[in-house]
Amino acid sequence: MVDEIENELTRIVPLPDEAATRALGAALSLLVRPGDFLALKGDLGAGKTALARALIQARLGPDGEDEEVPSPTFTLVQSYEAPDLLLTHVDLYRIDQPEDARELGLADALDEGVLLVEWPEKLGTLPADRLDIELVLVSDSAAQGASREARLTPHGSWAPRLAGLQDGRS
Ligand SMILES: Nc1ncnc2c1ncn2[C@@H]1O[C@H](COP(=O)(O)OP(=O)(O)O)[C@@H](O)[C@H]1O
Ligand SMILES: [Mg+2]
Repeated sequence: MVDEIENELTRIVPLPDEAATRALGAALSLLVRPGDFLALKGDLGAGKTALARALIQARLGPDGEDEEVPSPTFTLVQSYEAPDLLLTHVDLYRIDQPEDARELGLADALDEGVLLVEWPEKLGTLPADRLDIELVLVSDSAAQGASREARLTPHGSWAPRLAGLQDGRS
């Protein structure tokens, strides 16, 4: 589901398999810094949690893959301390109204570190400075199945920074 008109800055990254999603997460982990808001959009099962997990594990360092990064579906908020950065992973699917999100302490988490937010639409308004990451299932006629892609749309400071994103493949 595309809920926003993409602009000319939107960058599309094909995600044919989970390795590609991990590579994108690793590439993004090199770009994030305190105050960053990453809006993870897309339907259930699109891969929002998988991408957040990849980013967090990469940023945690060489042993990051040993760290369990569960979906915050029920806890709503999970925090991780990377050596130089606090990463807060949020899933707002179960939030009914923007006011209910207030007690989650997201403003403080954003002051101190990076916010990775699934179902950001539930907040009503989003920070003007952010990276929108929409994960989309696309039909892949060659493989006769579903493939995925990420549509990255930068806002504010992310426009020049996204230009530094390495292509997912290494
Ligand atoms: N290229 C891919 N990227 C991410 N997930 C993938 C990919 N291909 C298959 N999957 C599977 O799709 C599912 C995505 O689930 P999840 O990340 O929890 O979605 P969401 O958080 O958007 O609801 C996982 O079961 C994962 O194994
Ligand atoms: Mg999820």
